[in-house]
Amino acid sequence: LVVATALSAGLVLPRAASPSAGLVRPAHAATHRAAVVAEAAAVVASEVVTPSEFPAGNLRSLAEYDEMYARSVADPSAFWADIADSFHWERRFDEVVDANFDSTKGKVFSSWFSGGTTNLCYNALDRHVAAGKGDQVAFYHESNEEGEELPAWTYAQALAEVQRLANALRGAGVKKGDRVTLFMPMVPQLALAMLACARIGAVHTVVFGGFSAEALASRIEDAASRVVITADGVMRGKKLVGLYEIADKAAGLVRGLEVETQIVLQRLPPDVSGVSLKPGRDVWWGDATAAADPECKVEWVGAEDPLFILYTSGSTGKPKGVLHSTGGYMVYAATTTKYVFDLQPGDVYFCTADCGWITGHSYVTYGPLLNGASQLVFEGVPSYPDAGRLWRMVDKYTIAQLYTAPTAIRALMREGTGPLQGTSRSSLKLLGSVGEPINPEAWRWYYEEVGGSRCPIVDTWWQTETGGVMIVPLPIQGASMKPGCAMRPFFGVQPAVINEQGEEKEGACEGLLAIKAAWPSTIRDVFGDYERYQQTYFPIPGFYLTGEPPRRGGDGCRRDEDGHYWITGRVDDVINVSGHRIGTAEVESAVVLHPNVAEAAVVGYPHPVKGEGIYIYVTLNEGVHESDELRKALVMQCRSEIGAFAAPDVVHWAPSLPKTRSGKIMRRILRKIAASGKEVTADELGDTSTLADPPVVDQLIASHGIWL
Ligand code: WTA
Repeated sequence: LVVATALSAGLVLPRAASPSAGLVRPAHAATHRAAVVAEAAAVVASEVVTPSEFPAGNLRSLAEYDEMYARSVADPSAFWADIADSFHWERRFDEVVDANFDSTKGKVFSSWFSGGTTNLCYNALDRHVAAGKGDQVAFYHESNEEGEELPAWTYAQALAEVQRLANALRGAGVKKGDRVTLFMPMVPQLALAMLACARIGAVHTVVFGGFSAEALASRIEDAASRVVITADGVMRGKKLVGLYEIADKAAGLVRGLEVETQIVLQRLPPDVSGVSLKPGRDVWWGDATAAADPECKVEWVGAEDPLFILYTSGSTGKPKGVLHSTGGYMVYAATTTKYVFDLQPGDVYFCTADCGWITGHSYVTYGPLLNGASQLVFEGVPSYPDAGRLWRMVDKYTIAQLYTAPTAIRALMREGTGPLQGTSRSSLKLLGSVGEPINPEAWRWYYEEVGGSRCPIVDTWWQTETGGVMIVPLPIQGASMKPGCAMRPFFGVQPAVINEQGEEKEGACEGLLAIKAAWPSTIRDVFGDYERYQQTYFPIPGFYLTGEPPRRGGDGCRRDEDGHYWITGRVDDVINVSGHRIGTAEVESAVVLHPNVAEAAVVGYPHPVKGEGIYIYVTLNEGVHESDELRKALVMQCRSEIGAFAAPDVVHWAPSLPKTRSGKIMRRILRKIAASGKEVTADELGDTSTLADPPVVDQLIASHGIWL
């Protein structure tokens, strides 16, 4: 599990650094969803926080936000056309938006800036270099090893490298529309590889470096990528992550096509990585770029041409390839970055997310570069060599905006304020949070201890599918915040709270979060499966849903009396482990692959650091006995099928699973038992009258889970 946490987007402390993490029984967990909501609700009335010193920035007042928001929904075309015109279009668009969220009126679609041609890479790099900003730093690169100085990348250097790499890709036969899979460590070159794809109109599909060979292979297969960009490996804390080895194994597992070329970035000394390339297929990044032409012409692409595919988990089935297109994504990623992080000239910005997830796409690679910002990329983990690492980096690079996840905040909070001492953090202007609900306790620690009660907390709610931040307390001088509340919609976003029948609720209410009009970076498709796209996200006429049927919604939501939005967590079978979105069905499929397993059910349970932990109920085949060995084998099975971050925290041997008479597993009961440990009483389980075999539940309560 150390690998899991170490790899998790640079967000989490490995277990070694917080010995009690994961050992805490749910009964003691401080961050149960319900508790988060109840705790948050309790502060609504009593606590409204106003940071002491936020300067006037890109938004000068709440009144300005109100005015812009009103304009953005009253006349989206005029609003977004104005903004889009600040980008380079090789050919200007003819129409700003055309969309349909109602499948009863025809195909669901969302089209922005049609008729326009542009290029993300051109707008992120060439445009700034042409404007004389070539010497400005695009990326500072902080090594895993504190004290090891690595060269920074200016915009001009980034552009030069991207052109060579793009030519190397073209040399490998990559053409517009072809998919290229990126399986890399969190180094600046990962962002450069994304931009190289964009430059030639290729579609990148980044796979997080914590995935296993099997998971990588299935994504390569689904995207039909013949070219993979990877690295020899990377040190994360004390752990060596052998990316090449995994990519090489994955290439061998891919069916139906062949990985013809692998470009391999050398990040480690050869004696450490031990990598020897496969002749004919593999080439070192350095050799490929050295041999390539330094100039690479931009491929102008249509605004609706695809930019990238990013796989994400849902309640059912295999991960979906979320497809984003060019023009709308560009405009929305850039605009949200500008206002959410209040970027100003001279700021150094730091997002700890990995480009393997959407946060790294929109708020490392695209948003900041489109705004011409300087940012820090950190390849290590916040706990190495100790829990003061992040704070020392903030001082070293004079970070103005820090964007991280609640799971990281909770892990660091456990270490107390000691690691903060000796750092000033006076450069910080605002603090961001993403990926899961932030519990008020963590919110307060972040706000008071890290930011000294000076910095707004921008708690950004959004999803892989939304492409950019949707609901957020925008940083505005004098504006107050409610701890744990995502507050207001971003420009152009029209949230709705609906019930399970799909009826919109009015005023202060609670229900499922949905969005009722297209925004520029709306998900365009599920790669290769339009039907699934329409059925998953648009089953209710007129709404984009945040999760899938049958629950008809992913995120629960409450709108308070002031019209502010509180995200209360997933209501479907997706769990959020250290900010990683995992489908319980995926973990179940991994577990049942074991020949001794008859059946498995997976649920999330409250975990004090990770937000949610993975709890698996396993029914073994007749005659097979429970054993430590078998338990370890099941954990290994999850690691090898998905990745170390999907390894279960608790295994519960279940004589059988509670089912309805029609054979459906009653997950509600399983969640309840997992959340309360064995102290749960039959009364607490709620209505069990539909159970086919009631004693099953008593057996489950009498037995109990084994915490790993
Ligand atoms: C959850 C990550 C509460 C939510 C950007 C969503 C949040 C899922 C927040 C998407 C937040 C993300 N408050 N919950 N500020 N941000 N979530 O696709 O359940 O990896 O549906 O995108 O994370 O996860 P994804």
